[in-house]
Amino acid sequence: MATKILLFLFLLVASSAEDTFIFNGFRGANVRLDGAAYVNSDGLLLVTDAVRQTMGHAFFPAPLQFRSPRGGGGGGGKLLSFSSTFVFAMGSQYTGVNGCGLAFVVSGTNNLSAALPNQYIGLFNKGNNGNSSDRILAVELDTVLNPEFGDIDGNHVGIDLNSLTSVRARTAGYYDGTTDQFKNLSLVSGQPMQVWVDYGGDDMILNVTMSPVGTPKPNQTLVSSAVDLSNVVSDSMYVGFASGTGSFFTTHCVLGWSFRMNGAAPALDYTKLPPVPQFKTGGRSRKLAIWLTVASTLFVLLVASVVVFFVRRRIKYAELLEDWEREYGPHRFSYKDLFKATNGFKDKDLLGIGGFGRVYRGVLPTSKIEVAVKRVSHDSKQGMKEFVAEIVSIGQLRHRNVVQLLGYCRRKGELLLVYDYMPNASLDKFLHERGKPVLTWDQRFRIIKGVASGLLYLHEDWEQVVVHRDIKASNVLLDSEMNGRLGDFGLARLYEHGSVPQTTHVVGTMGYIAPELGRTGKATTATDVFAYGAFLLEVACGRRPIETKSEQMVLVDWVLENWKKGSVLATCDRRLRGEFPVAEMELVLKLGLLCSHPMPAARPGMRQVMQFLDGDAAFPELTPAYLNFSILSLLENQGFDDYVMSFPSTVATMSAVSGAI
Ligand SMILES: *[C@@H]1O[C@H](CO)[C@@H](O)[C@H](O)[C@H]1NC(C)=O
Ligand SMILES: *[C@@H]1O[C@H](CO)[C@@H](O)[C@H](O)[C@H]1NC(C)=O
Ligand SMILES: *[C@@H]1O[C@H](CO)[C@@H](O)[C@H](O)[C@H]1NC(C)=O
Ligand SMILES: *[C@@H]1O[C@H](CO)[C@@H](O)[C@H](O)[C@H]1NC(C)=O
Ligand SMILES: *[C@@H]1O[C@H](CO)[C@@H](O)[C@H](O)[C@H]1NC(C)=O
Repeated sequence: MATKILLFLFLLVASSAEDTFIFNGFRGANVRLDGAAYVNSDGLLLVTDAVRQTMGHAFFPAPLQFRSPRGGGGGGGKLLSFSSTFVFAMGSQYTGVNGCGLAFVVSGTNNLSAALPNQYIGLFNKGNNGNSSDRILAVELDTVLNPEFGDIDGNHVGIDLNSLTSVRARTAGYYDGTTDQFKNLSLVSGQPMQVWVDYGGDDMILNVTMSPVGTPKPNQTLVSSAVDLSNVVSDSMYVGFASGTGSFFTTHCVLGWSFRMNGAAPALDYTKLPPVPQFKTGGRSRKLAIWLTVASTLFVLLVASVVVFFVRRRIKYAELLEDWEREYGPHRFSYKDLFKATNGFKDKDLLGIGGFGRVYRGVLPTSKIEVAVKRVSHDSKQGMKEFVAEIVSIGQLRHRNVVQLLGYCRRKGELLLVYDYMPNASLDKFLHERGKPVLTWDQRFRIIKGVASGLLYLHEDWEQVVVHRDIKASNVLLDSEMNGRLGDFGLARLYEHGSVPQTTHVVGTMGYIAPELGRTGKATTATDVFAYGAFLLEVACGRRPIETKSEQMVLVDWVLENWKKGSVLATCDRRLRGEFPVAEMELVLKLGLLCSHPMPAARPGMRQVMQFLDGDAAFPELTPAYLNFSILSLLENQGFDDYVMSFPSTVATMSAVSGAI
């Protein structure tokens, strides 16, 4: 015991020269940490530790010379060879569910604070990924398949040069020294593994090799590629690690690390490496297995009853999982966890009911994170594959005005969607339900701008154009600070495949549906803008877009009439008691009208909407001729009248639908 403690005290073996170092554990080690990175009391370097959507970095503090000193003749010195080896471990709270990866990095800067977590694993961001002036060489250990970067699978080792689209990548594994056979390794198994990174300055070849810890370095490399570093490395470069997590709780740690310029990296002393933490899932199932073995030898009867118990539990927790879904592993929740999270979907935790299904509040068992779980009944097999692919890509959306979709689960005839929990429920409750406090104009204006910013992100600022399809007050959820966030993406799309009787050919909510959508059936960014216009008027006037009991059934038409008469302020919500800046109120009402224009081409784009709201662009003068329309007559002309009339009850239920994410 005493020697063990002594060993731990000498974890850091001082480097003999500036360009050689070795860390057998990181206790007391001089490394520059940032973000979520820390060294625990055992000397384990946790680059990120079980916190969602965080990143961390650990760099050797001094810059290293990657070129030989310049000769008298001037010009850059020649590229040097280098070699590094490290032992790492990654573990996740759920088996098969993790995010996102760890990377060994050689970088021109040790300040990667502008990088992003998730798929960017703390190396790049949307703006600089792929830019040759980044000067970043990385060896990624990536546990998520990101199609946007051409990833080969969700468990690979890749060589990255200034971009997350790897120069070369291979499924993680190694060539067994005795049989010469390739064996897969699971990066997130929680088991420690060793990686060697060797670069030849003359031939400019980078070799990456890996193996389970304790086995000798395999003779065959795993990934090897020509990598021209002549425009990347300079006299002073930093070496270290970066990692980022996604929506799940994954730990990325480094146990030991060595480096040498112009020579083979010093061997690590495995006896001195710190212990790997117990990753919950791995540990628990192993214990269970041992327990079962003991029990079976002692009490056959007991085992039988245990088996019955497990079989029943399996039926209770049965899920649908098809082959095509394997690649989405990281985005799947187990039904059992969701069942536990919501106390078995008890009514006590029911947040809302609607046409699409029921929404429950829950607390995930291990992480204690609050979530909202939506159960959507869906029997149709048709379209499911596309829909799940879409859910997974929606899960990658990150914006402060967009409700985060964390993942999904599938059972027979049912789909479960897991979202971040929004404590203040949906905006329509504040607008239309008695007993809720009246929102001030400041709050409303902030929500209006927030929703515009979220929608702009979906339409223009993300990699793909995302059409929301169902913008309305009940799909705007309020976080703890009363910021508006868009929720409930894509569900409307699921029902386009026509499996639900109560929706007819058009999916959406009456009053928010653009006239051309009824004609063409095609949702576009312009139909979203139309719905956003209806939403603006709803928030400013405190009325639903269509109220059949009211004389002025269609809100847009009523606001429009008043605007033509010069009395537009008479339409604003009385509960505000006139407490608002008149210019802002007029802007919102007029913008609401402009967005509600029956001609899609006459509506502004979301970027323009944002500029109007921010006061960065002057609002155009609206002429009565320009706004010479009546939505009601348009709808009637198109045979929508029955639809409108038969819808009131559906309007009510559908607004409660997403109410509660
Ligand atoms: C790191 O870079 C960011 C900008 O990318 C800058 O705001 C920050 O001050 C820098 N930090 C240090 C310590 O230089
Ligand atoms: C690459 O980054 C540099 C410096 O950060 C910037 O000036 C340049 O515009 C970027 N190039 C591209 C294509 O984004
Ligand atoms: C190793 O992984 C690859 C890619 O995921 C897979 O095709 C192959 O079947 C795996 N081999 C074994 C032995 O598991
Ligand atoms: C990389 O691997 C190739 C082929 O195994 C070998 O010839 C070369 O010497 C290796 N380079 C380094 C720097 O280890
Ligand atoms: C790997 O290299 C070692 C040492 O050079 C050698 O003894 C062994 O036979 C090699 N294994 C294979 C499969 O080539």
